[in-house]
Amino acid sequence: MVNLKDITTSNRALQSVPPGLVAVFAGATAGIGRATLQQFARNANGPRAYIIGRSNEKGSHIIAELKTINPMGTYVFIEGQISLMKEVDRVCEAIKKFETHVDILCMSPGYLSLGGRNVLDTSEGIETGLALQFYSRQRLLINLLPLLELSTSPRIISILCAGFEGTISPSDLECRQHYNFVRASRAAATMTDLMFEELAKEHPSVSFIHVNPGSVGTHLMDHFLASTPGLLWYPAQIPRYTIVPLYTHFLSTSPNVAGERILFLATSCRYPPAADHSKKGHVDGFVERPAGIAAAKPTVMKDGSGNGVYRVDWNCETCKESKILDRYRGERMGKMVFEHVMGVFERALRTESGGNGN
Ligand SMILES: NC(=O)c1ccc[n+]([C@@H]2O[C@H](COP(=O)([O-])OP(=O)(O)OC[C@H]3O[C@@H](n4cnc5c(N)ncnc54)[C@H](OP(=O)(O)O)[C@@H]3O)[C@@H](O)[C@H]2O)c1
Repeated sequence: MVNLKDITTSNRALQSVPPGLVAVFAGATAGIGRATLQQFARNANGPRAYIIGRSNEKGSHIIAELKTINPMGTYVFIEGQISLMKEVDRVCEAIKKFETHVDILCMSPGYLSLGGRNVLDTSEGIETGLALQFYSRQRLLINLLPLLELSTSPRIISILCAGFEGTISPSDLECRQHYNFVRASRAAATMTDLMFEELAKEHPSVSFIHVNPGSVGTHLMDHFLASTPGLLWYPAQIPRYTIVPLYTHFLSTSPNVAGERILFLATSCRYPPAADHSKKGHVDGFVERPAGIAAAKPTVMKDGSGNGVYRVDWNCETCKESKILDRYRGERMGKMVFEHVMGVFERALRTESGGNGN
């Protein structure tokens, strides 16, 4: 476990990194993403942040807040419905117009819902929860990889549920049969790891981190209970206004602390990429590892070298190894998931434009 004092000390050391770190945030209009964005603005020196979100009104509010936190930063809100692949492409094109490189991509859009899958498909025919937690994140990172590879220490962070990977069915990766949000989230976790491992083979200068933030006091649970369908909505309001606020405020990690931890993942040398590129002017991270803290264990080690992919728990420590992932690696499921994702992208891009996301 990396203690919070070491994490905050590491984050404060970002001040001595030359100005102009560039980060792209999706899902940072609330919760953990927003807290990470605030920590980035607070700690980095003349940072530049791109915030992708669906509400211009929220965007303006967040930009004003960031300007107060660090007036030396540049903050750009890009309105877009991130659950749609075509929208992901559009916002990436906008970022490419402004930037020649990206250092950090931090992705946390998502929600938990008790609604069934049929009512939840986007206009591109992807279940919205899976689109947000998995497909659009993959689209975003694949689009931005050319810019990330131009950073001296590129990091991709997906805030989801590392350690809770579930089984996936090759004939039903989109969980169309027997859909429920738990099964879909666990499938998204497994596919995230397998995709990261596939992509890391081709992009060894990038660190890929899938993190479970633990229980964080955001509006996630409140929104979850608010989504209860039918008559069950009424009993669901009791915990919503009693247990959930207590749990959120007193038993969960504060978003502020979670944000410190994610910023540490995004910048510390503790999570190096696969490639040893010290001779090419690249670095393992923007901030040295805290004294006495070893490099994190990547998901695959071969001949003494890691693959640059990390499954990380709430405390910045590597998750226990997963038997499911081991089995899927043996069955070469990574390649199959990669091809599946490309197929879903193609299908989504073929749909008529003009629809809304959810
Ligand atoms: N909080 C926890 O305890 C916890 C624990 C484990 C895993 N996680 C995972 O961590 C991630 C972030 O959670 P969080 O607690 O930060 O959630 P949150 O506070 O509810 O924030 C969710 C973010 O996703 C965006 N979003 C939600 N639905 C959307 C939609 N239909 N279209 C576009 N954007 C949408 C929200 O945008 P708007 O602001 O526009 O609504 C917001 O930026 C999620 O994937 C969650 O499953 C959270």
